[in-house]
Amino acid sequence: MTEPTSDWRDIPKVELHLHLEGAAPPAFIRGLAAEKGMDLSAIFRPDGGYRYEGFEHFLQVYEAACQVLTGPEEFRRLTLAVLEESASQGVVYTEAFLSPEFCGGGDVGAWREYLAAIQDAAMQAERDFGITLRGCATIIRHLGPDKGRDTARCAVETAGDFLTGFGLAGAEMMGRPGDYAWSFDAAREAGLRLTAHAGEWGGPDMVADTIRDLKVERIGHGINAIRDLALVDDIAEKGIVLEVCPGSNVFLGAVPSWKDHPLPKLMARGVKCTVSTDDPPFFHTTMSNEYDMLEQVFDFGESEFRHLAETGLAGAFCDEATRERVRKRLA
Ligand code: ADE
Ligand code: ZN
Repeated sequence: MTEPTSDWRDIPKVELHLHLEGAAPPAFIRGLAAEKGMDLSAIFRPDGGYRYEGFEHFLQVYEAACQVLTGPEEFRRLTLAVLEESASQGVVYTEAFLSPEFCGGGDVGAWREYLAAIQDAAMQAERDFGITLRGCATIIRHLGPDKGRDTARCAVETAGDFLTGFGLAGAEMMGRPGDYAWSFDAAREAGLRLTAHAGEWGGPDMVADTIRDLKVERIGHGINAIRDLALVDDIAEKGIVLEVCPGSNVFLGAVPSWKDHPLPKLMARGVKCTVSTDDPPFFHTTMSNEYDMLEQVFDFGESEFRHLAETGLAGAFCDEATRERVRKRLA
């Protein structure tokens, strides 16, 4: 791991791919576990970080950490902690994946209460830290299509100014994108904007099926599209935005190293790319660390970073008034 040097901390940033629970600082989760008398020592290393090996285990540790997030108040506190940290990294607009399954088990009434608490914290963070948050209700793929439909029902009932997006995360290699078409159709009809993880672990076929069957405007990761240049050109032509998370990809082994990351190639071929952290404490990264690494490895500088932020804002799932307000912060 490279230590963050924070050279790019102050440049305004837009982050489109952040899992709210995955952004929980380990100390926050440990503190809640202690308050509740829960023993979560198995998921922490002696130095206090999360302990896991590989993607499948990461998902298990992630879900174990979520056990302390037992109600709306915990999510209110989590949202505030996450947004304070993001704002300190120069992020002025962020979208977070929210999981109705972790917020009331897919029950619409319970979800409403969790979402209200998250939105309340977002308003406080906007006042206190100057960061804007929008939510993206997200299916956890390895829980299967039935749970996915519960997530869609929660999302449809609460779609609005704050909950603007609908997504698909979790174990990408389980099932096919078309298994979630019912949920994505329902979300689209409710006016939600669509994104799905694909091409983090799956190949170009998974990315292509996701675009065809779920009709998404954005793809989470999408990096393995690089193995099929005709697909890359199709993504560019359709204007689909990739939510690229290089530090996550390197840490989890989706790419062998930073220098092998396809981000510059995708950008050079005309794909709209953005940069995000995914689950920053799990991958020992921050937005400024991502920028520092992009500078060190690919010689990115201010013009690339401004371009990334503008692409992010153009692809953001917010209303036009919000986009204009945030645009002024990028100047
Ligand atoms: N959930 C949290 N982080 C994820 C990732 N990188 N891929 C798929 N699902 C996730
Ligand atoms: Zn993700």
